[in-house]
Amino acid sequence: MSDAVLVERTISFVKERLEGAKSGHDWFHIQRVFRNSLLIAREEAKELDLLVVSLGALLHDIADSKFHNGDETVGPKVAADFLKTLGLQAKTIAHIEQIVANISFKNTFTSGKTVKIFNSLELQVVQDADRLDALGAIGIARAFHYGGYKNRKIYDPEIAPNLKMTREGYKKSQGPTINHFYEKLLLLKDKMHTPAGKRLAEERHAFLLHYLEEFYREWNPL
Ligand code: ADP
Ligand code: NI
Repeated sequence: MSDAVLVERTISFVKERLEGAKSGHDWFHIQRVFRNSLLIAREEAKELDLLVVSLGALLHDIADSKFHNGDETVGPKVAADFLKTLGLQAKTIAHIEQIVANISFKNTFTSGKTVKIFNSLELQVVQDADRLDALGAIGIARAFHYGGYKNRKIYDPEIAPNLKMTREGYKKSQGPTINHFYEKLLLLKDKMHTPAGKRLAEERHAFLLHYLEEFYREWNPL
């Protein structure tokens, strides 16, 4: 199978699996991450495996642990089982499986310590693209969409953001959605890996700051 056909097959599989997916992990999130991954990859000076980037981006949220009782092994397994049906090399499958296993923001926390489990340029590209989707105008929309789904307040001046979030704390957080900006979104730009990812994150970060400024101005009109 050509790479184009492999990508098409994977798109069909992912679309079908994510039918009715909850909280911002729908097909369009995948499509944005896929496109931004290609954009970032295009600007990357170093050699990279575009097929791994493409399939990694398409499969990165195939089974969100939030909806599998916190089980973080489901996604990589579903991805690997699907990739075997495409007849890809074992090495390629293993690489994509690692991308799915290591993409999540939550995986950078382990008992409050940052650990690196696996790394590759292809993972960095997809991770940057995934993080970009949590920033900018789309990131704001996704945050309030998630907050609404969880019935969270948009803002509460009495509840301060928790800046010392552990892996468990991040998963259990009940705070207002504006706090999420300080607990996660505004930290993302300094975690970007690639030059293109960094540049795009800077722009989207500036947009978040501008949004917050306007938000507080409207909240405190006097
Ligand atoms: P990831 O895919 O990196 O693990 P999540 O699944 O935690 O990210 O988040 C998916 C989307 O929902 C992101 O845009 C993220 O900012 C948003 N989100 C996650 N947790 C919260 C929260 N507590 N409040 C508001 N938005 C959130
Ligand atoms: Ni994602």
